[in-house]
Amino acid sequence: MEAKPVKNSQTTITELMIPSYANFGGKIHGGILLSLMDKVAYACASKHAGTYCVTVSVDKVEFLKPVEAGELVSLKASVNYVGRTSLMVGIRVESENVRTGKVVHTNSCYFTMVAKGDDNKPTQVPKLILENEEDVKRFIEALWVKEIRERVREEMDDAKSSVEVAHAKEILKNERCILSLKN
Ligand SMILES: CC(C)(COP(=O)(O)OP(=O)(O)OC[C@H]1O[C@@H](n2cnc3c(N)ncnc32)[C@H](O)[C@@H]1OP(=O)(O)O)[C@@H](O)C(=O)NCCC(=O)NCCS
Repeated sequence: MEAKPVKNSQTTITELMIPSYANFGGKIHGGILLSLMDKVAYACASKHAGTYCVTVSVDKVEFLKPVEAGELVSLKASVNYVGRTSLMVGIRVESENVRTGKVVHTNSCYFTMVAKGDDNKPTQVPKLILENEEDVKRFIEALWVKEIRERVREEMDDAKSSVEVAHAKEILKNERCILSLKN
């Protein structure tokens, strides 16, 4: 299987944010943006893999800067990392006000995709050729993201199994909830 450079699969989607994508306040629904991210991640990952891919996990999606109806949203995707059958796609999302030309970086996130073979099982992907410092930086960052994700998952599992309702009064004393247990 021939290795492929990062640039071969870099993909950009630009879409106009039409009014039906927006809520009553004129802001674009998060789900619309998420769907576009998934689309560009799929296109980018499949180009590199040369097969269909599925989305396995999503990291760092935040909607901190609103996107308005009438703006153009561009999603730039790049394969940052490949494992044996998985690929991590980095996506940079920018919105542009067409009248003022102002461009806002709204979010950067990571989609992990897995390549599927004709038998619908995970299949090996080509190695990634890192041709410049940016490619190398992103690959190393992806290794960190994987490691942190693994650690957080383990900690969340531990935290869930160690929740003690018996100590709720103490744990929740500064929280904005009212304990009204019936028994
Ligand atoms: C993703 C999927 C193929 C993994 O299947 P699996 O039997 O667990 O396969 P494996 O254990 O061999 O893992 C395959 C790869 O996925 C990665 N993976 C599995 N679970 C993961 C998770 N929670 N987060 C990130 N990567 C994960 C593994 O690390 C492995 O990567 P590698 O080959 O590069 O080391 C399977 O769970 C699936 O088909 N899920 C449904 C996906 C889907 O429908 N998505 C939405 C629509 S596109």
